[in-house]
This record gives sequence, structure tokens and C-alpha cells, in this order.
Amino acid sequence: MKIVHTRGELELARSDYADRAVAFVPTMGALHQGHRRLLQRAHEDPSAALFVSIFVNPLQFAPGEDLDRYPRPIEADLAMCEAEGADLVFVPGDEELYAGGAPAVTVTAGALGDVLEGRTRPGHFDGVLTVVTKLFNLVRPSAAYFGQKDAQQLALVRRMVRDLDMPVEVVGVPTVRDDDGLALSSRNVYLDADHRTQALALSRALNAAAASGPHGVHAVFEEAQAVLAGAPGVKLDYLELRDADTFGAVDGHTTHALLLVAAWVGGTRLIDNATLDLGVTVER
Ligand code: PAF
Repeated sequence: MKIVHTRGELELARSDYADRAVAFVPTMGALHQGHRRLLQRAHEDPSAALFVSIFVNPLQFAPGEDLDRYPRPIEADLAMCEAEGADLVFVPGDEELYAGGAPAVTVTAGALGDVLEGRTRPGHFDGVLTVVTKLFNLVRPSAAYFGQKDAQQLALVRRMVRDLDMPVEVVGVPTVRDDDGLALSSRNVYLDADHRTQALALSRALNAAAASGPHGVHAVFEEAQAVLAGAPGVKLDYLELRDADTFGAVDGHTTHALLLVAAWVGGTRLIDNATLDLGVTVER
């Protein structure tokens, strides 16, 4: 496995794979079993080389967020990449990707970037899409793999690739959970034992909604809200339904919806989501 830090080294290494498809997993490191699943999924195509990037992107953190304390266990990250058969890991520093500071020209997420996560984290998705564009340009992958836990990010990357005609297949990979249902996240390391127990309310709420039968919108909400309202230590940011295919508002044509939740547990902001079958009984 080759580890490269500069765009020059990456370009040189990329030329060794000129005749091969490249499957790409962009990450911010602090790799967990969810990332492992991304790597494994990306590695399923035996003809493709597997490239990974590890870069904690300052552009997607607002002032006061956890950029400085974001976990950076680089040795363990590289060990996982190696174990999963990565051919190359690109680990640039800030200076390498943003020589001269923040870029003057960036990718704008548009209206979808201002809702849900974007309402609480203004500019977050512009930062994500800008770095993903830079990484796509540098790595030139044929396919890129993103977790479904970050459903809005996945929807926006798909939209960007479509709207800007980027020659990359975007593949969404299902969320990996601990046995008790907690969605894996690099930020789970911030949770102490009590907060971790409290955080289970998010997946419990989604499960309660999913278990509420052939769903009407109100039924889904009531089930999930009831769980979250009674959950100690959980401060709800949003609970929202979106059309799973378009990420637009749920309407009478929606058959599959995403129920998305974000909440603070202690000092940690967590997100989760589930796909629900709304059947034909959408209440309007
Ligand atoms: O999902 C992430 O880890 C990041 O948002 C990404 C896609 C690597 C961009 O920094």
C-alpha cells in the first residue's frame, strides 16, 4: 500500500493505474467499522484499484465546531486501509489542499445545503462539496463510496455529480450499527458511558417509526417523537421526513421516505436516519 502526501506524489502514483478503474473512498480518518464497510464495498470490484483519502477538511467545520479536537488516529487508520487491501492512501496536509488559505472559488450546495444539517451548520455542505470536487479532480476515480448515515451529504454529492457532469459513479453504502443500534460515527468517541446510553434514543426513535406499520406521515412522526420526547439527555435539533429518491418534501407520490434525526447528547451532535416504506397511505 502506497501512502502519499502531496498532489505530485499522488499524480505520479495515479499514472501507475492509468489503465485501471479507481474505486475511491474519501474520509476524514478516525476510521470505524462503517468505514471498513465502505472500503470492503469499494474493493468488491476486483478490476478496480482502491484509493482512500484521509483529510480533516477545515472548510466544512464552522468556527466553534470540533475541528481542533476531531480524532486523528492516523496509524490505526492506515492499518485498516492496509487490512482492507487499499492500493493507495492520500493523506494531504491543509497546506497541500488549501495552499494560500481558503479557496476564493468554491462549490455551492444550493437550497438543499441550507436545510436540515445546513440550517444548524451553515456553509458545511459548500465545504464538503468543494473538497470532494478537489479530491475527485486529483484522484480521478471511476466510482466513489459514501455512507448512507450522512444521507444529506450523499444526496448532495449525487446532485453535484449530476448537475456538474462529473464522470464518477456515486455509490451509497448502508449505515453500520453497533449491536445495540447506535449508528457508527467518528464522533461517538466523544460520548461517555451515560451519554452513549442516552444516544440510543435516536435509533430507538427510528425503529419505533419503522415499526408503526404501513406508514402515514403523522403516524411515523408521532412514534418517533414520542420516543425522543421521553429520552433523558437528548436535545432534539430536527426530526424530518424527506422523499428518499429526491430528498425533496414528502408528497402524495412518495413511497419511500427518509426519516432524519439530529440531536445533541451531552456536547456531541449526532445524526441518524432510516428509510421508511410509506406505502400508498400518505396522510397529507
Ligand atoms: O463524510 C466525510 O467523512 C466527509 O464529509 C468527506 C466526504 C470525506 C469530505 O470531507
